[in-house]
Amino acid sequence: MLIWKLIWLLLSVCHLCNAFSDYLLKKCDQSGFCQRNRHYASQIDSSKSYYAIDEGTLHWNDTVLSATIIKTVKGNPIARLPFTLTYFQNLDSLRFTIDEIREIDESSFIIDTNRYNETWKWSFEKLPQSDTLTVKKIKSNAFSWFKTVQNIITIENSNNDLKIELSMDSFHLDIYHNSEKVISVNEKSLLNIEHYRTPELNEENVNVEESIFNMFHDNFQYSRDDSMPLGPESVGLDFKLYNFNSVYGIPEHADSLRLKDTRNSDPYRLFNVDVFEYNINSTMPTYGSIPLMISTNTRNESIGLFWNNAADTWIDIKYEDKDTLTHWYSENGIIDVVLLFGSKPTDIISQYVELTGKPALPLISSIGYHQCRWNYNDELDVLNVENGLDSMGIPFDFIWLDLEYTDDKKFFTWKLDSFGNPLRLLKKLNQLGRNLVVLIDPHLKDNYFVSDLLKTKSVEVKNYLNQTFVGHCWPGDSIWIDTLSQFGQSVWFELFKNFTSSFVSNNLFNLHFWNDMNEPSIFNGPETTAPKDLIHDGREERSIHNLYGLTVHEATYASIKELYHSMKRPFILTRSFFAGSQRTAATWTGDNVASWDYLKVSIPMVLTNNIAGMPFIGADVAGFVGNPSNELIIRWYQAGIWYPFFRAHAHIDSMRREPYLLDNSTRNIVRETIQLRYSLLPTFYTAFYESSSSGSPIAKPMVFQYNNYEEFYDIDDQFYIGDFGLLIKPITDEGATTTTIYFPPGIFYDLKSMKSFQVEEHAQRIEVPAPVEKVPAFIEGGHIITKRERSRRSTKPMTNDPYTLVIAPGLANNAQGKLYVDDGESFDYQNGESIETIFTLSNGEVLTNNVVHGHSLRSETLGNLKIEKIIIGLTQQNGDLLKDFVNINSNGEEYQIPVHKNAEGTMAFIKDPLVSIDENWEISFN
Ligand code: NOJ
Repeated sequence: MLIWKLIWLLLSVCHLCNAFSDYLLKKCDQSGFCQRNRHYASQIDSSKSYYAIDEGTLHWNDTVLSATIIKTVKGNPIARLPFTLTYFQNLDSLRFTIDEIREIDESSFIIDTNRYNETWKWSFEKLPQSDTLTVKKIKSNAFSWFKTVQNIITIENSNNDLKIELSMDSFHLDIYHNSEKVISVNEKSLLNIEHYRTPELNEENVNVEESIFNMFHDNFQYSRDDSMPLGPESVGLDFKLYNFNSVYGIPEHADSLRLKDTRNSDPYRLFNVDVFEYNINSTMPTYGSIPLMISTNTRNESIGLFWNNAADTWIDIKYEDKDTLTHWYSENGIIDVVLLFGSKPTDIISQYVELTGKPALPLISSIGYHQCRWNYNDELDVLNVENGLDSMGIPFDFIWLDLEYTDDKKFFTWKLDSFGNPLRLLKKLNQLGRNLVVLIDPHLKDNYFVSDLLKTKSVEVKNYLNQTFVGHCWPGDSIWIDTLSQFGQSVWFELFKNFTSSFVSNNLFNLHFWNDMNEPSIFNGPETTAPKDLIHDGREERSIHNLYGLTVHEATYASIKELYHSMKRPFILTRSFFAGSQRTAATWTGDNVASWDYLKVSIPMVLTNNIAGMPFIGADVAGFVGNPSNELIIRWYQAGIWYPFFRAHAHIDSMRREPYLLDNSTRNIVRETIQLRYSLLPTFYTAFYESSSSGSPIAKPMVFQYNNYEEFYDIDDQFYIGDFGLLIKPITDEGATTTTIYFPPGIFYDLKSMKSFQVEEHAQRIEVPAPVEKVPAFIEGGHIITKRERSRRSTKPMTNDPYTLVIAPGLANNAQGKLYVDDGESFDYQNGESIETIFTLSNGEVLTNNVVHGHSLRSETLGNLKIEKIIIGLTQQNGDLLKDFVNINSNGEEYQIPVHKNAEGTMAFIKDPLVSIDENWEISFN
């Protein structure tokens, strides 16, 4: 008990340390199943296999192939493992599962003893339709260099673009996409299903290549109490990716975008944990897990590997010449794998979100600036910060209340001597056009009306003896809501109902929620989290650990959506996430540090979530822990405005640094930077809309835009915004005044000055100026972006402002851009209340607006739809083409408007062209 108290103390005062105490987390060789699977991988001869399909069990109907895999140990058949394979219709993908038939006397167990096979119910949005399969048996004696292959089955989908060869004698899948072999499954014979056995009979249940390390007990210092009721249960499998030698994804790690070879390090680990001041450039786990790996190559082929398992998981990666070998192993559950195929890497993301759900279209206000701190102390403090920002002309939309607004850290209460009248505060903020976010964590102080209710209803997480689990978190002794259970979700709803009722009855919908610490963080728990033998709705924590956070934020989202009568889209921030979290929440990169290194690593972290279907992410600006220098503050805001989620946050022990408190020159730069984000909100919002329809990244890595340039495969310090050709390189080095950017061939315009330059033929590194007041940002020729240039206090008043189009002509004087507009807050867009329009510049001669959705819709709620200015970037090619006037054809009328040029000759303007975005029109330049 003393040791727990010490750890707790250490975690609570950890702000005094400089880095995460990583001895609290297991290394691979301290984790039973990680050590065993790695050991097995080092011992097994890949020509050998203990797993074969029992031919007699092979069965297929139109859409599912099933069979039983028999595992042998020392020559004896020892376990029966049901295998299924399906193709998903309309998704270029296939799914296979391997489970285990267990015959266990359930009466001596509190938990369900079957392997947990319902992760998909949380991660998939719905089960997609299965495609028809064509199955052929080929009895052959083909001879490959290392083994005789007999009994192969081929399985094809209805389009004939996917083919699988399933070898029955040594379970093995060769997968062909468009006739090319792209993946082999179990190529290295690392399939390992640790089947159920008792300790007494263990010896006859292990093969010689296996290690028996920590099979029935855990000797890691902080998890010795794990009762491990079912003994060793891990599942492991290897995949060989042919002609793919860069892999990406599997957030969240504070590491490079391109995943590293793990031969000389620990594997990447997916295990949601609270890692205050996490280590950077590390494979250690952090707060969230998305087990999706994506790869692409210069042949324009892309693949995705989705390992649909929410247990503690480790992933090894070996780059081998042209190919990649990757080995995945999870502590328990089943093997449930979806393989996705496409040409562009973004095809993989769109299929993945088709399966796991599209990212929610957020409130437009929530993509503005968020001002947070642990803590704003009372109502007056909140209003002073509001006023401080406002009086200095700094736009913002959300202000946040962290932990201390509660009465003694009891969620669903207010500290009444500081927030005596929450209704008054909400009303005031509403009048000012601001939103408020409050923290509600899943840990609930023991012994107050909320935790009492949980216990009465029996919806708290239980310990392995099925008694209330009590652990330590912010309030001291706490219990945890069990949102895995439907009943738990309904109790959670009731709590929110009571908490929000006075606001809702006053038509106030400007209160939003932050689910923090939902890994869950447990200060006296093993590895800073929950003991693996806790029980959620009859299932072990071990099986669902990585999806617990998702169950919490989904229940929060569903509650608020219902309570707000769908009048406003809920905004929920979650710290922990899993595949599917994108449907209902935004996230952030957790407890970073105010240092240059953390600023740098925030970029690949944000990019990685963006390619894993969960784009609404940011990092705390300008670092959570510590006191950043003015230069770091400036550079962090200059990076932060490009994070999809843009929030400043600071630790309770750090100095106040709200932008209005900064010295004049720092403040001016920060203000201008935030204003730049606001001016680009029409473009950002369109990128969010695109993402909500196809999962496309909002912050997009170079290689995801151009997989044809190998030079970009490693680049993770510059990126694009959506499909808008906005190329950004935040400055992350102290004292830098220039930076080098890797450009693809084309023409590029400085976002601010519109000065252009050409990049010939190959991708090239070019040095560009980056004095402290400048964030290097360019528009790639060929794009049109939309802005609202008048500076306002928040998003609300901006809706009355007209738009500005910025045209960046490409080399042939063509350009295109898209704009999406809706009311920015309700669900009416789902009933078609929106405008989607495409601007096209053809040969520098004609600019057209083509309304693809919502033509002639003139709803008040869509705001001002007029265009007040059109800016055209001038180049050597188009400068002379422009005449002094343009001819406009709009609404059946024809008229002329003058063209002006700036003194530098970098851009031309057309002011007040009398056109709007919801009408088709044409402007001729000659
Ligand atoms: C941990 C979160 O990561 C941090 O952002 C927050 O300020 C503290 N919890 C206090 O609630």
